[in-house]
Amino acid sequence: MVKAIRVYELGGPEVLKWEDVEIGDPKEGEIRVKNKAIGVNFIDIYFRTGVYKVPEIPYTPGMEAVGVVTAIGAGVCDLKIGDVVYHSGGAMGTYTEEQIVLADKAMSLPPIDPLVVASVMIKGLTARFLVRTWFKVEQGHKVVVHAAAGGVGSVLCQWANMLGATVIGTVSTKEKALQAKEDGCHHVIIYKEDDFVTRVAEITSGEGVDVVFDSVGKDTFQGSLACLKPCGYMVSFGQSSGTPDPVPLSALATKSLFLTRPSVRTSGFSNDEMREAMKEVLANVASGALRVRVNHTYPLSQAAQAHVDMAGRKTSGSIVLTPES
Ligand SMILES: NC(=O)c1ccc[n+]([C@@H]2O[C@H](COP(=O)([O-])OP(=O)(O)OC[C@H]3O[C@@H](n4cnc5c(N)ncnc54)[C@H](OP(=O)(O)O)[C@@H]3O)[C@@H](O)[C@H]2O)c1
Repeated sequence: MVKAIRVYELGGPEVLKWEDVEIGDPKEGEIRVKNKAIGVNFIDIYFRTGVYKVPEIPYTPGMEAVGVVTAIGAGVCDLKIGDVVYHSGGAMGTYTEEQIVLADKAMSLPPIDPLVVASVMIKGLTARFLVRTWFKVEQGHKVVVHAAAGGVGSVLCQWANMLGATVIGTVSTKEKALQAKEDGCHHVIIYKEDDFVTRVAEITSGEGVDVVFDSVGKDTFQGSLACLKPCGYMVSFGQSSGTPDPVPLSALATKSLFLTRPSVRTSGFSNDEMREAMKEVLANVASGALRVRVNHTYPLSQAAQAHVDMAGRKTSGSIVLTPES
């Protein structure tokens, strides 16, 4: 038996239960991993609340972790007991002390702090696909990043800056503004104090920006469209404040705008593409080109508190859960 977070019904953070679970032995192509650090993502909240559909109930939340291999199933040749691996992109279920993982979803850990790796897989991949695939950021682009001090936002601002863009970040507090500045934002707007549409117009001398990366959704969507220049790109990749209202095509026609709603999970990336992208993220982390901010750690049993703080906009950078044993 190991301890894990289990969810029996969708709802608030109180549905995250700390329980004993049986995990069994790995079958063919599987490994058993004792998790050392588990990444928390806003997506975990979407699944818990029903914004995204969970494959089954009950379930164990969590999409990424780093751990030590404790058992190997038949046919697994490239990993051995004792290896430290990071795993993401398989089935949900990383909020647990130990778990069964598909071996082809696990990779050997490079010489980077496990806490950092656990906290940056999904966020780093998302940032990478945002600036390299879903919209190709180039030298001279002007970009808006909402929630610029968040987990994805922190990495995204740094990466857009690295590619030569002028980065305008929006955040809710002065403390988050300081972090966003350090992470490569040339301009930071505290959107609780200033109207971000007006400020973006001022910063761009009325021209507008090439792209808005909008993960906030309902509260920012319309304003984001207003920030774009003609033929600009609205990349809506999340909805931390709620799902945006439906968009009539006429709302795009006024400036010939492009609108996309991409997701890492539904873009059809192959396992090899995901592995390559992950290697690129970690190479940038290892070289120091990307700073990963593990600003919050919680014991695994306190996952509910992590969710409360994340949904309450109290967190910045990444959150990691650490199993006690
Ligand atoms: N499309 C994809 O494939 C993909 C993959 C991963 C993540 N995402 C999305 O990326 C976003 C960021 O994920 P993350 O894990 O890094 O979370 P996060 O950005 O660390 O946390 C969410 C942030 O959103 C901002 N926010 C604005 N209004 C909010 C509200 N009403 N309630 C809560 N937060 C609000 C807050 O920043 P301020 O306090 O500064 O406003 C908050 O810190 C999420 O929307 C997530 O769904 C998308």
